[in-house]
Amino acid sequence: MTLPAGTHLQAVPGQWTVLSLIQWSTAYLEEKGFEEARLHTELLLGHVLGLDRLKLYLQFDRPLTPEELASFKELFKRRLAHEPLQYILGETEFMGIRLAVAPGALIPRPETELLVEKAVEHIRMLNREGVTVLDVGTGSGNIALAIARMVPACTVTSIDVSKEALSIARRNQERLRLQNVILEERDVREGARTGESYDVIVSNPPYVSSEDFKNLQPELRDHEPRLALTDDANGLSFYPLLFGLSAAVLQADGRLFCEIGYGQAEAVSRIASTEGIQVLDIVSDLAGIPRVLCGAVSS
Ligand SMILES: C[S@@+](CC[C@H](N)C(=O)[O-])C[C@H]1O[C@@H](n2cnc3c(N)ncnc32)[C@H](O)[C@@H]1O
Repeated sequence: MTLPAGTHLQAVPGQWTVLSLIQWSTAYLEEKGFEEARLHTELLLGHVLGLDRLKLYLQFDRPLTPEELASFKELFKRRLAHEPLQYILGETEFMGIRLAVAPGALIPRPETELLVEKAVEHIRMLNREGVTVLDVGTGSGNIALAIARMVPACTVTSIDVSKEALSIARRNQERLRLQNVILEERDVREGARTGESYDVIVSNPPYVSSEDFKNLQPELRDHEPRLALTDDANGLSFYPLLFGLSAAVLQADGRLFCEIGYGQAEAVSRIASTEGIQVLDIVSDLAGIPRVLCGAVSS
């Protein structure tokens, strides 16, 4: 097997050990400008050997078999081609839950945990059974499944236009054995359905503008689904659809929680008020960036 030109995994004489492979691969990734080179190398090697990082540290002198080395090389080449680590490992963690991830769905981001925290705080405050939640653009199902797991007495309807995303969400639902999540292929553009009504609506919209999309890291731009990242416009075009749907199906005392992109708070708030949604709060993340809009149907 050949790595890209200039990559010589045979550079260390004798047999590769866990430590020598970690050191060589870390240095190689660093030289190519990759961040968190050591962490990524350890996670890739740990994945191949079926060991967590602590166990890897306890086996530094372990020699690698040719099969183990070949498997590692495959994964290492994918990372060198800027494939996100989470897609290579096939999973990530969100709200303390291990979720399957694959190229058909966005990799859940830590900043989205704030949205889940706010929504769950509100649902728990309602202090009643049978709360209904709608998740618009569910992707891997991270938001919906986290809420459904934290508040078992609620029901979450999760919609997404992407079949690929829904199949990953379904895999996660089965893995977590959550019965209180309904996954539906549906376009937000279809608008409200007759008789539909929810206590809570959550959404993490595709809010990257087409301009910003061009400048994203290759990990995102070339590997994550374009549909999940950008609206191919100014980054704001999903919001009128989300707010319009929310104004139609949110109960009078219901709440909407949606994520907003960097620098979008004012523009998104303006859109909300023209679409019948009153902004109650905008919550900033730990970095002080306005991140979650909380709204209700305008009275
Ligand atoms: C930013 S991703 C969010 C995914 C996931 N909820 C998360 O937080 O990681 C946006 C999601 O919206 C979905 N989406 C894009 N356009 C849509 C539309 N018109 N109707 C429904 N879903 C849409 C995408 O497929 C994608 O899964």
